[in-house]
Parts: sequence; C-alpha cells; structure tokens
Amino acid sequence: MRVLVIGGTGHIGSYLVPRLVRAGHAVTVVARRPQPQYSDPRLGWPQVTWVTADRAAEESAGTWTARLAALEAEVVIDLICYTPQQNHAMVQAFAGRIDHFLHCGTIWAYGPTQQAPYEERFARRPVTDYGINKAHIEADLYAAWTRQGFPSTVIHPGHISGRRWLPIDPQGSRDGVGVYERLAAGAPVHLPDTGLATLHHVHADDVAQLFERALQHRQAALGESFSAVAPYALSLVGCCTCVAHLFGRQPELEFVPLERLAQFVGDTSASIIYDHVRHSPCASITKGQRLLGYQPRYTTEEIYVEAIEYLRESGQLAG
Ligand SMILES: NC(=O)c1ccc[n+]([C@@H]2O[C@H](COP(=O)([O-])OP(=O)(O)OC[C@H]3O[C@@H](n4cnc5c(N)ncnc54)[C@H](OP(=O)(O)O)[C@@H]3O)[C@@H](O)[C@H]2O)c1
Repeated sequence: MRVLVIGGTGHIGSYLVPRLVRAGHAVTVVARRPQPQYSDPRLGWPQVTWVTADRAAEESAGTWTARLAALEAEVVIDLICYTPQQNHAMVQAFAGRIDHFLHCGTIWAYGPTQQAPYEERFARRPVTDYGINKAHIEADLYAAWTRQGFPSTVIHPGHISGRRWLPIDPQGSRDGVGVYERLAAGAPVHLPDTGLATLHHVHADDVAQLFERALQHRQAALGESFSAVAPYALSLVGCCTCVAHLFGRQPELEFVPLERLAQFVGDTSASIIYDHVRHSPCASITKGQRLLGYQPRYTTEEIYVEAIEYLRESGQLAG
C-alpha cells in the first residue's frame, strides 16, 4: 500500500518507517529534513519518497491544504498533530479518498489515573492543554468515523523511549545521566511522597509495532483507539530499584513531600516530576493484544537496560 507518514523521522518514525518499508509498503515521509533522527539512514530509508516541507510554516501560510490535496496514499499516519484545527484540515483533505487514517495521540489524553489499569473505553479526564487537545482530536475522529465513515484509528503512546532517546528517568524527570550516576554509585535519590507514583514507558519500536498492527488489522482498528505502552507500569521506587540492581546495588531512597522536592532537584525537574506524579499513568494493553495482536517487546526494565548500554557506549555514563 502507499503509506504517507507526516513527521516520520523522529522517535516513532525512525522505527515505524523501516518497519513499513520491510513490510513492502511504498512509504512517503513528510519532514523538514529528509533524514531519520534515530535510526541508520542506510537501512530501509533509501526506498522512502521524501516530501520536504514545514507543516507549521505551511499551515500559517495557508498552503498546507493544497500540499495535502496533491498527496496520494491509501494510508495516512499523522505523527505530529497537536490541535483540533490541524486535525480538521487532515480530515477535510483525505475524507473519501483513503482507506485508513492513523493519528498519534498520548496517554496524557486520559488524564490522572483513577482506575488502574486504565482501559481505552474509560472516560477521558485530561488536565493539561496538550492532553485536552489530544482528547478533543480523538473525539473528533471518532465522530468523523461514526457520522461520515472517515476511517480513523488513534494510538496513544506512553513515555516514548529508544536507544538514543532517554526514557523518563527513575525519579520521574529528564535530568540527563544524573540519577543513573547516583543509583550506580549508591548515592541518595530523592523521590516525591511515598515514591509510589507510576510511570508507563513504551519503547518507540513497540509504538511502531502497534501502528503497523493497526494497519494490518484495519477492520478491527477502525473507529478504535489503543494504548501503546509497555506490558505494565512501574512505580518510581520500582524504577529506582531496577536501575540500582543493574549496578549490583540497592537504591538509597529519600522520600520528601512533593511540594518540597524542588529544593533537592531544582525547579525544572520538580515540575516534570510533578506532571508525572499527578498523572501516575497505568494503562492496559489488553485491547491492543485482543484486537491487533500487540505484543510489546520491551518492559520498562528492558528500556532502562538499553538506555544505560547506550549511555555507556556513548561515554555519557562512566563504568
Ligand atoms: N515523546 C513522547 O514521550 C510522547 C508520548 C506520547 C505521545 N507522543 C506523541 O508522539 C508524537 C510525536 O512523535 P515523535 O516522538 O516520533 O516526534 P519527534 O521525535 O518530535 O519527531 C517528529 C518528526 O517530525 C518532523 N517535524 C517536526 N516538526 C515538523 C514540521 N513543522 N513540519 C514537518 N515535519 C516536522 C521532525 O523532523 P524535522 O525536524 O526534520 O522536520 C521530526 O523528526 C506526537 O503526536 C506526540 O503527541 C509523544
């Protein structure tokens, strides 16, 4: 099939596009630069047709719609759509002329976890602008499917990680190698409250797997949404324990109230940790398994192993 991937050179696309090429699809990728950011450009990518374009600039200039009208495909995968207006333009451009439209959402559309694990059929209660917009897009796509037969599927990834893209760290932040160094050295790591807030990672190749399986099982995927996450979520204590064990240690954990965490980790990290703590994501993969045969290859522990391997190989983490 002819598959058009908008924003296909980043974390997800770097794994998804080679998968689609290997499966025999004719793949066209839209990006500002014609090169993958996280995979070997020699593997799978020479067969790709490139459309070098800046979506944001073209949307502002009013030329994006004409761009889309000129693109022919049976399947469209939109990886970089963040507002209902952007999505509306996609539906307008492709209604009646494609077999399948796949939108990349986020588990932030779900909002803070009330019942765990969260199933796709539960109510959306997003609390951030990002999550609210993604939930709105999902609702619009569902309405377009039920009212006009617009053939949509939404994939909601957890915290995306890959070999060259560090996972949310075991403290719930994005603080470079600092937490890994402390856990490796047996130094104290500060966690908010009881440390039982959860993270739900996913390896980018598993996100790509779910997109590919949705394509393969189109009939089961139409009008549906699916969580792209690892088989289970882990608490911050669980993440710290996993990483410390990789270095043959027990974690030295110090628990502090969330509102005082900034004193220990700084304002930037504290605000990232706060966002993860208040969501405490924990999503189910049962629907993806049942309808699409989703089988994630990576647990969070395996994601940390790969990240640490890469940090060591690239000289960012000693030892
Ligand atoms: N990151 C996460 O942990 C996470 C979690 C849940 C959901 N998501 C969802 O994942 C999606 C993003 O996927 P990703 O992580 O693979 O993204 P990404 O790594 O940021 O990659 C996006 C790609 O799109 C291209 N791009 C960016 N802006 C563009 C523009 N204006 N015009 C054309 N191309 C553009 C970029 O290449 P150029 O720079 O060459 O243009 C880039 O390689 C979003 O829908 C997000 O909501 C992400």
